[in-house]
Amino acid sequence: MNIAQRISIDPAAKNYVSKPRKLLIDGAWVNAQSGKTFPVYDPSTGEVLAHVAEADAADVDKAVKAARKAFDEGPWPRMSPSERGRHIWKLADLIEKHAEEFATLESLDNGKPLTVARVADVPLTVDMFRYMAGWATKITGTTIPISFPGEYLSFTLREPVGVVGQIIPWNFPLLMAAWKLAPALATGCTIVLKVAEQTPLSGLRLGELVAEAGIPNGVVNVLAGYGETAGAALAAHHGVDKVAFTGSTEVGKLIVQAAAGNLKKVTLELGGKSPVVVLDDADVDAAIPGAAGAIFFNHGQCCCAGSRLMIHKKIFDKVVAGVAKEAESIKLGPGLDPDTQMGPLVSDEQFQRVTGYIRSGIAEGAEVVVGGKKGSDNGGYFVQPTVLTKTNSDMKVVREEIFGPVVCATPITDADLEDIARQANATNYGLAASVWTRDISKANKLAKRIRAGTVWINCHNVFDASLPFGGYKESGWGREMGEFVLNNYTEVKAVTTAL
Ligand code: NAI
Ligand code: MG
Repeated sequence: MNIAQRISIDPAAKNYVSKPRKLLIDGAWVNAQSGKTFPVYDPSTGEVLAHVAEADAADVDKAVKAARKAFDEGPWPRMSPSERGRHIWKLADLIEKHAEEFATLESLDNGKPLTVARVADVPLTVDMFRYMAGWATKITGTTIPISFPGEYLSFTLREPVGVVGQIIPWNFPLLMAAWKLAPALATGCTIVLKVAEQTPLSGLRLGELVAEAGIPNGVVNVLAGYGETAGAALAAHHGVDKVAFTGSTEVGKLIVQAAAGNLKKVTLELGGKSPVVVLDDADVDAAIPGAAGAIFFNHGQCCCAGSRLMIHKKIFDKVVAGVAKEAESIKLGPGLDPDTQMGPLVSDEQFQRVTGYIRSGIAEGAEVVVGGKKGSDNGGYFVQPTVLTKTNSDMKVVREEIFGPVVCATPITDADLEDIARQANATNYGLAASVWTRDISKANKLAKRIRAGTVWINCHNVFDASLPFGGYKESGWGREMGEFVLNNYTEVKAVTTAL
């Protein structure tokens, strides 16, 4: 079978990309006030896939006003938690009903294999809404005994923080929308969500289901637009009480500055340079595919990608050869081809960035064990899965987030756990890490010593709606998911009554 015979496209997704898509403001689908639109590209060919309205500051202002009105006057924050939970659950059901369309849009827009979007992005999105639907009825305060002279009753209330601006990236477009929207909805906030300019489609399509789920107008507003215009305007807007951002550390710092105007609350989920530590007693047959998956999943476009592979010197050659073999066997192709195991990078910009890093690594003396080249000549943004050795901690490829399928492998020359932890922590980031060993004591000692928000033992990239996720150091502020994320979207009020 040739490619054309293998690929069949979901008719609903095909229909969705065939028409220009608009912005969701106050329950209505509208053009940008400027009338501008922008093209969305198919990363497997570089050709235009769809056109989308381009929001800028004027549309952000309109959307924030709608969210403000929905918060200050609308039913959403005043609704019973049980009813709010039911609407969120309904939204999950609707996404599930349109699962194939969402998986297809995600694959077309981002480039990831349809087979992956079907088993990861879409079901994790559904799960996140269901998990948070359950929390709507469980956001409680506490009663607190106080020592002030006299008799008092003191308790805390948890209240929604208000209007939230949410800015998301392109690596998991639908799932990142869910990570942001679901807890904000559960707590009774209203939202202006700005989807990434590279991948606006699934977030906009999700917006269509919001009304069907019975969520009132103005509670969820969805804007497509560029970061420097729409994103910056949202982060700076004085009508926004809190901004939640996922993306680069560089833009995270700009968000903090923009938020200073009205001291809106800020949470940030930023970059990483996560270590994968393989000790000499590791189950090598598990560690090899584990380390390969840690970097090559989603083409390395994961904030928690295991991009620094630290292997005990005794098994270094064996593990590197194993990971290289895995890399070589990965079949590159368009996301919709069922034979594809790795798609293109999301954009030409990312293609240039990642291949630039590979060139810089080589120029600084790194050795390419496998890969290192562009992955096709058809105009798509493909990069070969790449393993580099002979890297050191001064090199850009070791210090900076590459966000592509490129791993730097280094031997660990010292078996002392303190020293291994020091090397693992030798980064400005602190998002995630994995440790591979059969020694549960060593594994847990390292888990305690590694300064990162997530440590996986004998696994990597295990995610669950119930597990908090976020970064130490320059990987961010606050936590997404789990019970912890509710703190991002609530204010705490202490109420004291003199009895
Ligand atoms: P980015 O941080 O520029 O974009 C992420 C989001 O922020 C997008 O929605 C974008 O429109 C918005 N944005 C950009 N500039 C903004 C501004 N001044 N104010 C408000 N919002 C703004 O990331 P980009 O340029 O797409 O990728 C660059 C690098 O960032 C990647 O190579 C990777 O290292 C890192 N990154 C990390 C992600 C993560 O999950 N932590 C996700 C995407 C990128
Ligand atoms: Mg950028």
